[in-house]
Amino acid sequence: MLSKSRKVGIIGAGNVGSTVAFILAMKGSCHEIVLRDNKIDIAKGKALDMSQAAAAARSHTIVSVADTPEKLKGCDVVVITAGSPRKPGMSRDDLLLINGEITREVVNDIKTYAPDAIIITVSNPLDVITYAALKVSGFDRSKVIGMAGILDSSRMASFIHEKLGYGAGQIRASVIGGHGDDMVPLPSYSTVAGVPLTDLLTEKEIDEIVDRTRHGGAEIVSYLKTGSAYYAPAKSTAIMVESILNDTKQIYSCATMLQGEYGYENVVCGVPVMMGAGGAEKIIEVTLNQCEKKMFKKSVQSVQDLIDVLDKNKFFGKKKK
Ligand code: NAI
Ligand code: 2OP
Repeated sequence: MLSKSRKVGIIGAGNVGSTVAFILAMKGSCHEIVLRDNKIDIAKGKALDMSQAAAAARSHTIVSVADTPEKLKGCDVVVITAGSPRKPGMSRDDLLLINGEITREVVNDIKTYAPDAIIITVSNPLDVITYAALKVSGFDRSKVIGMAGILDSSRMASFIHEKLGYGAGQIRASVIGGHGDDMVPLPSYSTVAGVPLTDLLTEKEIDEIVDRTRHGGAEIVSYLKTGSAYYAPAKSTAIMVESILNDTKQIYSCATMLQGEYGYENVVCGVPVMMGAGGAEKIIEVTLNQCEKKMFKKSVQSVQDLIDVLDKNKFFGKKKK
């Protein structure tokens, strides 16, 4: 059922979170947005600035700050982009544990104050953070979904356009698997105005696109130096929020808990899902060839290795703080 409140919570008002809020506010996609960040003044300043931009855009969306977790009450969707950057001397596992604890803290707030909300996770490492959010919340798997596949697919689409030099806006690319170097771009399910990619580009050209897609995030970091991408991540997240608020029933690649689908159990990975008011309402199982199955297996294993790190550190054994 479509919600009347159309309230969206965004936890983590950094680059991605505030850009998601800005996109939603400019389009008037929801009635209310609450921004929450442990840097309260930054969130306050951004909320004020965005409210004024909404007024300029004649949008009805109100943007305010959630300086206490109670203000998440009534949210239909809560986006989690809260995270700590990797600092010198910190290993990937250290970062995973830190972002895992941040996720535990914010998910407990959502559970307490917005128990009916659908959670969209964005913080990295995405698939394992989604897994942690799902386990901590105890929500149904349809209500905790990770954003990555839409971003990775849009990166692939833009690289296809760069190679072809035509077809902008008509390119549909598909990427499944975990959000990491082992992600699985699917040229066999990528088209330009319905024409298979394999009829438009050589194998070598397609391989170059696949490789660049896998490293699309790192390519942007190499230019920005002090941060990672946020325009395409934020747009991809806003698409998921709008799908839920408008009950569009559209299919997107999103990180979701697999319970037997694709032959995997109790692991989160990106696959096509049908998104609607209930969240990830249906998981679609696409037919993969042997090579794609092998790549998907490797990608699932990379996510599983990170879940094992959390497990080894007793993350799931801890009681709610
Ligand atoms: P950022 O550093 O600009 O923002 C993170 C925000 O989280 C900061 O404002 C920080 O104060 C806040 N924060 C930290 N701990 C918090 C807590 N306990 N409660 C509330 N707020 C807290 O980072 P950015 O660029 O916005 O990225 C956010 C996350 O999203 C990162 O983990 C990044 O790696 C990830 N990401 C994931 C993508 C994906 O495809 N899934 C794409 C882009 C970024
Ligand atoms: C990206 O792919 C950092 O996960 C982020 O841009």
